[in-house]
Amino acid sequence: MATLTILPSGTTIEAENGTSLMQAIINAGEKLLSKCGGQASCGACHVFITAGRKGVSKMTPAENAKLDTIVGVGSKSRLACQATLLGTEPVTVELLGALSG
Ligand code: FES
Repeated sequence: MATLTILPSGTTIEAENGTSLMQAIINAGEKLLSKCGGQASCGACHVFITAGRKGVSKMTPAENAKLDTIVGVGSKSRLACQATLLGTEPVTVELLGALSG
């Protein structure tokens, strides 16, 4: 199981390894925008991984290419629909709300 803490609410949940960040965030009852249904093409699910970056899957070329087009992207940026929880260490994710996309 993977432990995920979601900011700014501070909600912490357990999720099955292999669960996408997006699914885990939604399962926790948090809101996450998605305009493309998780296809790495809308960028609305942009989040920051503030801790535990080794606890999520490696970035794919499609995710990397999409992130390159989003304003405000930094070294902690991921697309929640593409990153999956590995369960190797606890992960903290910060939702960006209106800043995304
Ligand atoms: S939901 Fe569209 S890029 Fe993630």
